[in-house]
Amino acid sequence: MDRSTKVPLRTGRAMPLIGLGTWKLDKDTAEKIELAIEEGYTMIDTSGDYDTQPGIAEGLRHAGVTRGDIFIVTKVEETEDALESAKRNVGQLDIGHADLILIHRPPQYGAGEPLWEGLQRARDEGITRDIGVSNYSVEQLEALMETSGEVPVVNQIEWSPFGFSDEMLEFCKRHGIVVQAYSPLTRGEQLGDARLATLARAYGKSPAQMILRWNLQRGTIPLPKAARRVHRRENLAVFDFEISQRDMDVIDGFNRHYSALGELQYV
Ligand SMILES: NC(=O)c1ccc[n+]([C@@H]2O[C@H](COP(=O)([O-])OP(=O)(O)OC[C@H]3O[C@@H](n4cnc5c(N)ncnc54)[C@H](OP(=O)(O)O)[C@@H]3O)[C@@H](O)[C@H]2O)c1
Repeated sequence: MDRSTKVPLRTGRAMPLIGLGTWKLDKDTAEKIELAIEEGYTMIDTSGDYDTQPGIAEGLRHAGVTRGDIFIVTKVEETEDALESAKRNVGQLDIGHADLILIHRPPQYGAGEPLWEGLQRARDEGITRDIGVSNYSVEQLEALMETSGEVPVVNQIEWSPFGFSDEMLEFCKRHGIVVQAYSPLTRGEQLGDARLATLARAYGKSPAQMILRWNLQRGTIPLPKAARRVHRRENLAVFDFEISQRDMDVIDGFNRHYSALGELQYV
């Protein structure tokens, strides 16, 4: 496994192992995206409601990146018309097509079948290559799969050593759904955990790097957001060490269904 390794998607395409989160990337988004591309990021996660899409478009233009070398994930809101929202997002991103568009959250009622149909049309029209969901529980995934007859390629959910679900991971692995880990660094809130710090010292790595490597070894795809260059670089430097099985088990033991957002949406 190295930085160029990709995860196969069940549709035949492939996705990078780490993506740059862009929620609250805020000012100078274009500059940060351009730098991130230079630093080696090949996947960017955004959404229509992050206000970062125009900045991402500008950053990608300045970086002069070849379209096929970058994987762009965006999301449609559950209250919107999915096809229209997909078109608007891709227009703002100025990328011709997205690689992956997700339903941002399940709607209040049902499993989002009309949204899914909108995304299927977006895919048929070439607006996106793949489609998936975010914040779905196992039950909501099952319901959507049963009514649509299709398996989402990705479920993007909050996921850190302090808050994750073995049941979800097993379900997703069984159905070929890739788990993308959002808020993987707990928005910084648990990086000071003393047990994590002790392990990190033993490996000569930072707590953030331990968390990201734990994801890679578990087969989940982390999307760390980092406005600071030093953080972005650190977060990509996770391919030169391996956490032992024993220490993976120790890190698994940190799980207490913690959520930096208030509550794990999918448990
Ligand atoms: N689908 C959804 O519903 C959903 C929900 C939430 C998030 N997301 C996605 O997931 C991405 C990541 O989640 P997030 O932004 O909530 O939180 P996060 O990635 O867990 O944490 C970001 C925070 O960690 C800091 N940080 C980054 N690298 C670090 C390092 N190496 N050492 C110490 N601190 C570090 C960042 O600081 P600096 O920025 O100052 O560098 C920032 O304050 C989002 O940006 C978004 O793309 C999706």
